[in-house]
Amino acid sequence: MGTPHNEAASGAFAKTVLMPGDPLRAKFIAETFLADAKLVNNVRGVQGWTGTYKGTPVSVMASGMGIPSIGIYSHELFHFYDVDNIIRVGSAGAISPRLKLRDIVMAQGACTDSNYAHQFGLPGTFAPIADFKLLETAVAVARRMGVEPPVGNLLSSDVFYNKMGGTLKWGAMGVLAIEMESAALYCNAAEAGKRALTICTISDSLVTGEELPPADRQSTFTQMMKIALETAVEMAKPEM
Ligand code: HPA
Repeated sequence: MGTPHNEAASGAFAKTVLMPGDPLRAKFIAETFLADAKLVNNVRGVQGWTGTYKGTPVSVMASGMGIPSIGIYSHELFHFYDVDNIIRVGSAGAISPRLKLRDIVMAQGACTDSNYAHQFGLPGTFAPIADFKLLETAVAVARRMGVEPPVGNLLSSDVFYNKMGGTLKWGAMGVLAIEMESAALYCNAAEAGKRALTICTISDSLVTGEELPPADRQSTFTQMMKIALETAVEMAKPEM
């Protein structure tokens, strides 16, 4: 088995996959949190690892940056590797003035300037949303850890260096922050009949221009990863 972008064997991925954008972060999560972590994919250096967290099988694989990249990897995980849940663990730039650096936000919905959903041929505009069970589980896990995450819309943009401007207009519609992947992930989950959720740490602010120093990032990212890992454990429990 294998796909053009993934050399993992059939069954090599756990039912829940955490997806950071950065392959080195995938490696960091695997080496820091997973027991018996094994590298299952390394095509293009997009590292995929499978191990266990508190006894539950969990995988972590990078998505790369942007909608086309996560579109490919999440499609293959859902359709060819029988993955049920993808939890994106990423970074985002604040659009809402209420958000501070290091805040952990959860994407209930993903607005977008991308045409990704055009391919589904719908006679209208699809609203990409998180899976409710994943979302409510992750919120409960976060609260248990003393974190009250803002939950709402993110903007998944195709453009990082945007020459047109206007990004802050999304704030007037209550959009919390900007990133570049969730809309495609949520579309793919919907199309596959699977579950997806994005959790992001605020790494910069389009409102104030502040940026998290790289050295500072690790600790908040670590908290976000723990929320995602504990959510994976909860999702593996049999339904009551
Ligand atoms: N724009 C897009 N994606 C991002 C940003 C941003 O400012 N910060 C983190 N991911």
